Amino acid sequence: MSAGSPPARLVVLLSGRGSNLVALADACARGELPAEIVLVAANRADAAGLDRARERGLAALALPSKGLSREEHEARLVAVIEQARADWVCLAGYLRLLSPSFIERFASRIVNIHPALLPAFPGVDAQAQAWAYGVKVSGCTVHLVDAGCDTGPIVLQRTVPVLDDDTPDRLAHRILEQEHVAYPAALRMLLSRPWRVEGRRVIFS
Ligand code: GAR
Repeated sequence: MSAGSPPARLVVLLSGRGSNLVALADACARGELPAEIVLVAANRADAAGLDRARERGLAALALPSKGLSREEHEARLVAVIEQARADWVCLAGYLRLLSPSFIERFASRIVNIHPALLPAFPGVDAQAQAWAYGVKVSGCTVHLVDAGCDTGPIVLQRTVPVLDDDTPDRLAHRILEQEHVAYPAALRMLLSRPWRVEGRRVIFS
């Protein structure tokens, strides 16, 4: 984005607590991210992140996935994302795998944050996986989303030491603090600097 261009329109998808949504919303509000969150959508009506969005005056919508086929649920999701004229789809604790056709539709415009240093520990409970494996360093990864589970090209990573007296919860808490720095920083890079994907590598010029 160059000076004077309108802010990028972000749709944030989540399933739970919404602390990464809050970090993105705060970064937008502080003028640190050349973007605005135009819609927050959750696949669960009871996702606390929807309340966090409404408290900030953001449009928030529950699109429950339960009882629907993936195609039916994603058709509703695509409709609201297109209606919101989103430039980017930001996954923030969205715990559903998106279909190849959804990813194709928003190719190179979907980002995700994962609480481990990918490609280590993809999938659920990444922090507990890292703790149980005994790694000495873990962290978080912001990546472009492809059709795999946490496999897309990496935009930015931040490391967190694993301490001898850590529990999975303590480690997860310290990783989350770094997620809240990494996600706005990665989006700021994507929105404000020229970049390209070469193979698996995201190159900023
Ligand atoms: C975050 O730790 C995020 O990295 C993780 O879910 C949590 C959501 O927290 N995402 C994944 O594990 C995706 N594979 P939040 O709702 O407070 O942002």
